[in-house]
Amino acid sequence: FTITRRQFTGGASAFAAATVLAGSLKAQQPSTNEQVRRLTAKLGEAELLETDAPRTPIWGYEGHVPGPELRVAQGKPVAIDLVNSLPQPTTIHWHGIRIDNSMDGVAGLTQTPVTPGETFAYRFSPPDAGTYWYHPHNRTWEQLARGLYGPFIVEEQQPPPCDQDLVLMIDDWRLGDNGHIDEASLGSMHDISHAGRLGNVLTLNGRGEQDIPVRAGQRLRLRLINAANARIIGITFEGHVPMVIALDGQPLDRPFAPGNNLVRLAPAQRADLILDCDQDVGAQTSILADTGREKLRIGRFVYHKEKRERPNILTDIPLLPQNPMPVALDLDRAINVDLEMTGGAMSAFEAAEYKGKRYGARELVREHHKIWAFNGIVGMPQSPLMQIPLGKTVKVRIVNRTAWPHAMHFHGHHVKEVAHARRTPLPYWRDTILMERGEEVTVAFLAHNPGRWMLHCHMLEHQAGGMSSWYEVA
Ligand code: C2O
Ligand code: CU
Repeated sequence: FTITRRQFTGGASAFAAATVLAGSLKAQQPSTNEQVRRLTAKLGEAELLETDAPRTPIWGYEGHVPGPELRVAQGKPVAIDLVNSLPQPTTIHWHGIRIDNSMDGVAGLTQTPVTPGETFAYRFSPPDAGTYWYHPHNRTWEQLARGLYGPFIVEEQQPPPCDQDLVLMIDDWRLGDNGHIDEASLGSMHDISHAGRLGNVLTLNGRGEQDIPVRAGQRLRLRLINAANARIIGITFEGHVPMVIALDGQPLDRPFAPGNNLVRLAPAQRADLILDCDQDVGAQTSILADTGREKLRIGRFVYHKEKRERPNILTDIPLLPQNPMPVALDLDRAINVDLEMTGGAMSAFEAAEYKGKRYGARELVREHHKIWAFNGIVGMPQSPLMQIPLGKTVKVRIVNRTAWPHAMHFHGHHVKEVAHARRTPLPYWRDTILMERGEEVTVAFLAHNPGRWMLHCHMLEHQAGGMSSWYEVA
């Protein structure tokens, strides 16, 4: 079926514009992290479709999707109390933050899940500035699909000059004809074994299309976040050339314009962009999301005024200040680890280990809903996939021997490509790596953050279906 998209006219447009403006004004206030902030995970409703369509019951932080935009100062203590008002246990994971291990929010590995009615105190100081996000790490495939996520922005002490700093958080929902989340298919074996839960409705910041008012001559900083369960999404800005200045929160040494001006994000990946508004007053340009099957408009820039002074368009793209992340790798004396991804539809393994026992593939599917493995092991192994002495460099050679792409996410550390079977490695620090089918890439990092860290596919049905493991730094 098709769900019609919101067409902005008059009042609706003005309302959307006001919402976005309020968001950007808030962003300009100086950050203080001092107060304890309560964040309640609870049931709510969202207007994912056009205004007069039925509202969608969701689970959200403060009942909203996305949850509140948390903006904090780099290196300063953050205090957030998660209150669980959901009908099931939950946690919060601060995706991409190089955090103290006990605050990483992984149910069953770094904390016990927070049961309904309980509270958990998250206390940490984010070391790196950049664009991050928060989401549950318990039944993530379900809780994220229901709307539990929000942006987590760590502001630079000296941010580059921009006229607007906007979060664009994109999601892919699977809704039924009544506009409600299709619950029957949550965690279905078909989604687990194929591409994950792919939706039929895209949203930008939890709504249908958004009008974003801009002034001719303005410079925007856009923070793109892919919050979809499993959809790889390509974003283009009609008539504009985006310059990528950061990926997964970490600043680039050399900003670049992506090929075809398309910013492609696997689930959980982020990109910070500088986009100069070089059209004239009156222009309305589309923000398009390429789902691989079609291109959909998820928003528009509406040029409503002239900026007083015009900047030099697409010159002097600012470099973000460096983060204190350890970047010096000792590749010659690195620990080498192989990570082989197997399983899934069309390439299933015959047998694998699960919870310390050997199982045939059929049994795994039928009785445990598992079909993916790392190094022949399905789900969280009893001993870590890699045991790394603190301070050592690790090289992980990842080979995707499945018929599907994956979004490999490392907790606790960012990693960088150091070798690739078919091209020169990309010089970016990332917490989530898109692995195309058949791809072989070696990533490296300095194990500086002690603790037990997960690594898993961020296509959440794959994670649920066995593509999850952990490593220990000690
Ligand atoms: Cu964004 Cu282990 O997660
Ligand atoms: Cu995957």
